Amino acid sequence: MADNYQDELRARFGLDVDLGLDPGGEVPENAWIRQVLMRRTQRRYSNRPVTEPLVRLLLAAAFSTSSKSDFQQASAIWVQDRARRDRLAALIPDMPWIGTAPVFLVFLGDARRLEQLGELRGHPQPNGALEGFFNATVDAALALQTCVLAAETLGLGTCPISVLRNHIKAVGEILELPDKVFPVAGLCLGYPAQTGFISMRLPLEATVHIDRYDDTGLAAAVDGYDRRRDARHSIKDRQRAPERFGTAEFYGWSEDKARQQMTPEGVGFAAWLRARGFTFDDPEMPAR
Ligand SMILES: Cc1cc2nc3c(=O)[nH]c(=O)nc-3n(C[C@H](O)[C@H](O)[C@H](O)COP(=O)(O)O)c2cc1C
Repeated sequence: MADNYQDELRARFGLDVDLGLDPGGEVPENAWIRQVLMRRTQRRYSNRPVTEPLVRLLLAAAFSTSSKSDFQQASAIWVQDRARRDRLAALIPDMPWIGTAPVFLVFLGDARRLEQLGELRGHPQPNGALEGFFNATVDAALALQTCVLAAETLGLGTCPISVLRNHIKAVGEILELPDKVFPVAGLCLGYPAQTGFISMRLPLEATVHIDRYDDTGLAAAVDGYDRRRDARHSIKDRQRAPERFGTAEFYGWSEDKARQQMTPEGVGFAAWLRARGFTFDDPEMPAR
């Protein structure tokens, strides 16, 4: 009889997930869905080489993702030069996997190319409004995650790297980014050196709404989630900044994330983008 992914769902959510099946009912069996439910970020990689043809295959898969209006506003930089890679890694010494992963890619939002198309075809139009920024960001994020899933399908491990944006000026210089091209995230790639662990997710009751947005059950859902996560993997001995926030008797995911967001990230990113042509306004009507 079908197990309807119950082991994988328990691993992902830390509880029995009711798919709403009738007695004896089942959902389609698929090995890849099992793998997605069990996926995990990997930050340690073996020495097993990742060949260049394989990276090209993964990039081809990544850029097969859907794209808003077929505008194709994602780009990627495959950082092959050791010196450039070392300069990036040196910006973030507490994440050594940026320098040690066999392959390092950077997925970029690219609002520049559409402007270039307009100029090439004689319909110039600035693409620095919020819409241009947002569409390019979404396209890059989709390409990034498609690359992640393609890599994991072939047994590789990955780790997205958004902390690059905390060092946006240096990253922009190292990667020689022109106006209206910005990093969404880097991506470490390699064969995993260890099994890693599954990061439990919020219950679908907290993230999926039916017909209308309703978060009245959030506090209870988060409380239950904190307890399940703590039972599987306690972080009570790794409390963030106790000198600032004190030591909590129960220290769960929500307390950790609430403390984490008290140290803002991406400071300087908006100013860097504005200096490079993004206005974040509504689009201007094209000149006729
Ligand atoms: C857009 C994005 C940016 C991320 N940036 C970083 C990063 O800078 N450094 C890092 O070690 N992990 C980074 N991660 C990995 C997350 O920490 C990880 O996905 C999260 O903890 C959940 O774990 P899981 O992917 O194993 O389920 C990033 C993930 C995403 C999706």
